[in-house]
Amino acid sequence: MANVTRRIGLSLGADICWPLCYEQILGKLAVSVPWQGDTVGIEVERVTIEPFDLRQAAKYDVVLDRLTHWYHTSREWIKKAILMDGLYVLNNPWSVQAMEKHTSYCAMMHLGMPIPETWMLPPKAYEPLPDLAPTLTRYAQLFDLGEIGSRIGYPMFMKPYDGGGWRGVSRVNDEAALRRSYEDSGKGVMHLQAAVDPFDSFVRCIGLGPQTHLVKYLPDAALHDRYSQERDFVSADEAALLRDTTLTINAFFGWDFNSCEALRKAGTWHPIDFANPCPDSQITSLHRHFPWLVKAKLRWSIFCAVTQRPMRKTMDWDPFYAIAAEPDMPYRERLRGYAKIAEARFEAVRFEEFCATHLAHLDEVAWEFFGTDAAKSAFRAKVTALFPAHEVEQFTELFWGRVQSWRAEQPQAKGGRP
Ligand SMILES: Nc1ncnc2c1ncn2[C@@H]1O[C@H](COP(=O)(O)OP(=O)(O)O)[C@@H](O)[C@H]1O
Ligand SMILES: [Mg+2]
Repeated sequence: MANVTRRIGLSLGADICWPLCYEQILGKLAVSVPWQGDTVGIEVERVTIEPFDLRQAAKYDVVLDRLTHWYHTSREWIKKAILMDGLYVLNNPWSVQAMEKHTSYCAMMHLGMPIPETWMLPPKAYEPLPDLAPTLTRYAQLFDLGEIGSRIGYPMFMKPYDGGGWRGVSRVNDEAALRRSYEDSGKGVMHLQAAVDPFDSFVRCIGLGPQTHLVKYLPDAALHDRYSQERDFVSADEAALLRDTTLTINAFFGWDFNSCEALRKAGTWHPIDFANPCPDSQITSLHRHFPWLVKAKLRWSIFCAVTQRPMRKTMDWDPFYAIAAEPDMPYRERLRGYAKIAEARFEAVRFEEFCATHLAHLDEVAWEFFGTDAAKSAFRAKVTALFPAHEVEQFTELFWGRVQSWRAEQPQAKGGRP
């Protein structure tokens, strides 16, 4: 029986608050798990950016990565470490790099999800590359944008095929607006998507491994109020459907950490944006949902590190496609079938057992931590980075207050066990 240490690396950019909380709660957890004859502890460290020899071993067992989608040196280091050193990383970097919103729409349409009618357009403008003129002259078809608009129907949304962060998204109410938006889209490769309109509810489902969390989303509210504080805004059946939808997407694409946006119209939930494999993790937007996220990251990363969960390097879509090909299976049954594959891939049962056996103290430790000055100063640090100086105190107090009301509702507040 040896004492063994597994190392978790945090590959970070602008993140401030969640790493501070993650590190401090991990320290207080003092993980010591009897595992296959050893006693396993965990160390966490921030991954630095530096030149690397491709044959130099990586020292981490698990990396929580927030850079792959834009910082290529880190992304390639992660790929090397998966291929050569057995690293487990959230999220699969090849998948993050290759699966744009477009692929996610196509694949989930094929699985039967009620994605609104969506078209892709060739761009309005181009880089003047040498092959451009012969290619377009020979093959680009003139098209009638107005006719495409009337086939999709108004209102609709024009948005980049590889979108994120509301960049380049416009709501289009009629043909004149469609033509204007296309003129303005420049070199962007755009989708046109029928609006789910009117919708009566908008939900974001955050997935982290087999864990999911639903948040009612208010897209027109100020940034700090978009994640609403409402609870019980969906029925149990709807919650199960949104969870199955999110787990399916996340397992399909190898995204352990991703969020799915869905809008409800006439009782049907339409997923509209679910290629978000670096989801918002900041106190300034998540507020009362932030403790859930930090705990979920801790549970899943500790589980992956202790059990040395192997990284799924390739996607393996065939089992999902096999269910999609079943004749006459109702959609809800299909979705349950996909989600079962997802639960197996995310080792949902084993994970629950692991948490119950080895991380039973996490809720209590986190609950206490989120009432400390250390937590508040982590919140303040993020607020300071985002808000003008004269608003720092006000918004620190706002987010702190919301987390304290979350704390007051937890079993620990009543002196009970979770
Ligand atoms: N089909 C749609 N129906 C209704 N609203 C939409 C639709 N597509 C986008 N939106 C609105 O536009 C916002 C941004 O679009 P989204 O696809 O989420 O892009 P991004 O990847 O930039 O977040 C959504 O949060 C939603 O408010
Ligand atoms: Mg979105």
